[in-house]
Amino acid sequence: MTSDSFYREPVPAEWAHRHLLDLERLTPDEIRLLLDTATLFKEATGGCRRKLGVLSGFTVVNLFFENSTRTRVSFALAARRLGADTVDFTTSSSSLSKGESFIDTARNLEAMGIDAVVVRHSTPGTPHLLAQHLQVGVINAGDGPHEHPTQGLLDIFSIRERLGRIEGTTVALVGDIAHSRTARSNIWGLTKLGARVILCGPPTLVSDRWKECGVEVSHDLDAILPRCDVVNLLRIQFERQSTRPFPSVQEYAHLYAMTGERLRQARDDLLILAPGPINRGVEVTAEVADCSRSLILDQVTNGLAVRMAVLWLICGPRAAPTTTPLGSHGGRLV
Ligand code: CP
Repeated sequence: MTSDSFYREPVPAEWAHRHLLDLERLTPDEIRLLLDTATLFKEATGGCRRKLGVLSGFTVVNLFFENSTRTRVSFALAARRLGADTVDFTTSSSSLSKGESFIDTARNLEAMGIDAVVVRHSTPGTPHLLAQHLQVGVINAGDGPHEHPTQGLLDIFSIRERLGRIEGTTVALVGDIAHSRTARSNIWGLTKLGARVILCGPPTLVSDRWKECGVEVSHDLDAILPRCDVVNLLRIQFERQSTRPFPSVQEYAHLYAMTGERLRQARDDLLILAPGPINRGVEVTAEVADCSRSLILDQVTNGLAVRMAVLWLICGPRAAPTTTPLGSHGGRLV
């Protein structure tokens, strides 16, 4: 796919998924297809600003059971830039409060003729459950601490856009690995594309068992920094913790915050990522968050490109199945 009008063609046959539930089960080629499609959408929309109308007549529902700024708004904007209608389902004013189940709620929304559901929920596996009950596309916008596939994709997209490659790069994920869905999606996506991943943080938040997934584990940020091309700074998710995993926020920041002093010790071309929301003074100082090596706001823009790509691959037109003497095949969605 290289032409300006790629989106007028059917979705490539290499994409055979009806849902985007996680990065764990995608192949490296499928991840590359998502990234390449996002690049084409970014170019075709003048940096994610113009409308294309390729999903005109489609409807995307945002079904968020946890708070969100970036993911919720950028899925809505991405859908509108593709010409789709969007509905923001608000749980507090819904009939869930009258005892209607989650699945019944989703099936009633589906009965109104929607095409895709973007779901965020505090319980891991919620999008996977929904996908078993709905015919329309289900997109995981974050399921508890399990995965946040579009965040992983936009992080990887931002690195690839700046460095031109993922294979052979060294990326440190620093902070609350134990509770971070972004960490899991980054780990799957980056390792499948050939990056070396280092997980760094206090032992209470970074288990040695992660080594079984082919990543390196460190508890010493200053020791690993000189080897890193990228550091992705993950927020401490206090809302998911029953006990505090370190004595004080000040002590955590002393050991693991990305500060101006640490930046000056690192390589000149070190890239700074953070999925947001950021807590200035905890995982990153204002000086670093706002410096020229920070991609934090580029990540947000790239989130639009990635989510346009995901919505188009999930909802876009399929090539007509080919009929053979053995039956129909092609356009198979799983
Ligand atoms: N990065 C991210 O998921 O941000 P939101 O929680 O604001 O959507």
